[in-house]
Amino acid sequence: MVGKEKSLASLFAKKSKKRVIFLASGRGSNFEAVAKNIRKGKLACDPVGLIVDKPEAKAILVAKSWKIPSFVVDFKNFASKEDFHKALLEKIRSLNPDLIVTAGFMRILSKDVVREFRMKIINIHPSLLPAFPGIHSQKQAIEYGAKVSGCTVHFIDEGVDTGPILLQSVVKIEEGMTEEELSRKILKEEHKILPEAIQLFIQNKLQITGRKVRIIS
Ligand code: GRF
Repeated sequence: MVGKEKSLASLFAKKSKKRVIFLASGRGSNFEAVAKNIRKGKLACDPVGLIVDKPEAKAILVAKSWKIPSFVVDFKNFASKEDFHKALLEKIRSLNPDLIVTAGFMRILSKDVVREFRMKIINIHPSLLPAFPGIHSQKQAIEYGAKVSGCTVHFIDEGVDTGPILLQSVVKIEEGMTEEELSRKILKEEHKILPEAIQLFIQNKLQITGRKVRIIS
């Protein structure tokens, strides 16, 4: 009886966990950093799936190694961008997520996805937004002559890297640093603040007013 009660309790605990899905296009090191935190018991959420937009995305291998289901919505298989975005929305809906995490997903989400999951989609970006949005942010920071850069976790809105900011981490740009060196330094911080941001979200510790996100302790 005790055993039965225990297993029911754990079933209930499992059911009440927030469902998190991940969207990626590349190697998936941020996805892996989050998966590690979940498996270590530091993040109490259910990683219900990874969606990639190309079959060669290395993130799929990461998902396999962590036994997280992965799904390919291959951009190349669709006649139009609109069709791809419709299929992506369908896939997302089918996973019924409480939170969507984009980490190195190289496509702008459609307005339909943003509308349906407003303030439920977060992204990790390798600069201190609003500086250096878009691609090659580390290169942009070096070429601009910035003395510091870093990374940002923000909600996704209809713009490109413009949504409300949850967390940021700063790194120093050393004299003569290459894009690769800066990227590596920033990536280490990404791997810390992305799990942290997910934790704040799943614990309902974020209070959003306009574009300001307050962390409730
Ligand atoms: C990271 O630098 C992230 O900030 C950016 O794309 C890169 C993805 O890296 N959006 P990974 O696939 O998580 O290793």
